[in-house]
Amino acid sequence: MAEQQANNIVIEATGLTKIFKDFWGRPKARAVNGIDFTIKQGQVFGLLGPNGSGKSTTVKMILGLLYPSRGVLKVFGEEPQNVDMKSRIGYLPEETYLYRYLTAMETLDFFGALFGQSPEMRKERSEQLLNMVGLSHAYNRPVGEFSKGMARRIGLAQALVNDPDLIILDEPTSGLDPIGCREVKDVIRLLASRGKTVILCSHLLADVQDVCDELIVLYGGKIRASGALKDILSVKDQTRMICPSLDEKTVEDLKKWLESRGVKADENLSIDHPIRDLEDFFLEVVNQARAQSVATAGAQAGGEVPEYLADKSNAVLDALRQAAPSKEQPKEEEKPAAPVIDQAKLEKLETVKEQKPVEPQQPTEDEARKAERERANNALNNLLNKK
Ligand SMILES: Nc1ncnc2c1ncn2[C@@H]1O[C@H](COP(=O)(O)OP(=O)(O)OP(=O)(O)O)[C@@H](O)[C@H]1O
Ligand SMILES: [Mg+2]
Repeated sequence: MAEQQANNIVIEATGLTKIFKDFWGRPKARAVNGIDFTIKQGQVFGLLGPNGSGKSTTVKMILGLLYPSRGVLKVFGEEPQNVDMKSRIGYLPEETYLYRYLTAMETLDFFGALFGQSPEMRKERSEQLLNMVGLSHAYNRPVGEFSKGMARRIGLAQALVNDPDLIILDEPTSGLDPIGCREVKDVIRLLASRGKTVILCSHLLADVQDVCDELIVLYGGKIRASGALKDILSVKDQTRMICPSLDEKTVEDLKKWLESRGVKADENLSIDHPIRDLEDFFLEVVNQARAQSVATAGAQAGGEVPEYLADKSNAVLDALRQAAPSKEQPKEEEKPAAPVIDQAKLEKLETVKEQKPVEPQQPTEDEARKAERERANNALNNLLNKK
């Protein structure tokens, strides 16, 4: 174990095979067929493949829920069935299995209790996690009432209750709106930057591309492609140069110069404006809408300000949501989570409240975004440090 940890290897699979058998013991499905892979600490590792290619079976073997038929699988240098090691793993299953009648808060409290956490720690973590996934307004609602996206969010919070070193996420962004997707991806990157290892199974390739360092592509239980994302996706026989916008004359001169160097303009040369990421564009549009609605709400409904500010002052990653309240938010007013604001925060809140009517200058959107991200990072760092 010590040797494996020294190499920072979290998972090592060699010749890993799973054959499902029928009632008579005859092979029914060769779900995983002799695969080798290594996952290192701090990596975000993508497990890709079409339906039925063996992703979930691989994950279940890593979790010790299924025994491999052949091959060797080590997780933190141990057999996956090792009970002590389970407390180091967080798992968001393909389908979120929750107790319908427990509230969001009770759900997280329940999972915290399974890990033997004290009531104080459970309360604190549950509140922080609910904030992180943007569900603090729904802390008291039974999870059976949650929409699909809300269920994914509480599932993600549940997977992080034990501050795991290895987090396995099976389709974490399925059912989430674009804002939720971005938040989950930000959380994944943040966790990786804290030295956590993340395994991500997803059919949403854009999400995988955004967060994964390495990946394998399974087909028929075998690895068909693998490697570091940047190596797999970089087009080695082309060069791209990004520069400030050029006028037509300069483009023409540039083409001539390139032709003089043997680059044929018609076949190999393309000079145009880069295309933006649709996700960035979407978030920018929603952010603009939010900025406008905040100004209007401030003038009309002062009563909402404390809740909004209190939310922000307590947020872990709530601040990563740069956009309007999610569509899943209930229409009826809900009480905020049980009081968690300490005196210092209250004072801060009061100061902000007092200043608001006479404050002539609002921070620019970029500044606010940066500050909120910083607050969110600090809050998550606090959460992760309090193991
Ligand atoms: N308990 C089981 N009994 C028999 N066969 C199974 C069992 N679980 C999975 N399989 C088979 O193993 C193969 C791989 O299934 P798996 O669930 O690992 O696929 P997957 O890559 O996760 O697919 P999806 O993208 O649909 O989630 C499939 O042919 C499936 O029918
Ligand atoms: Mg699956």
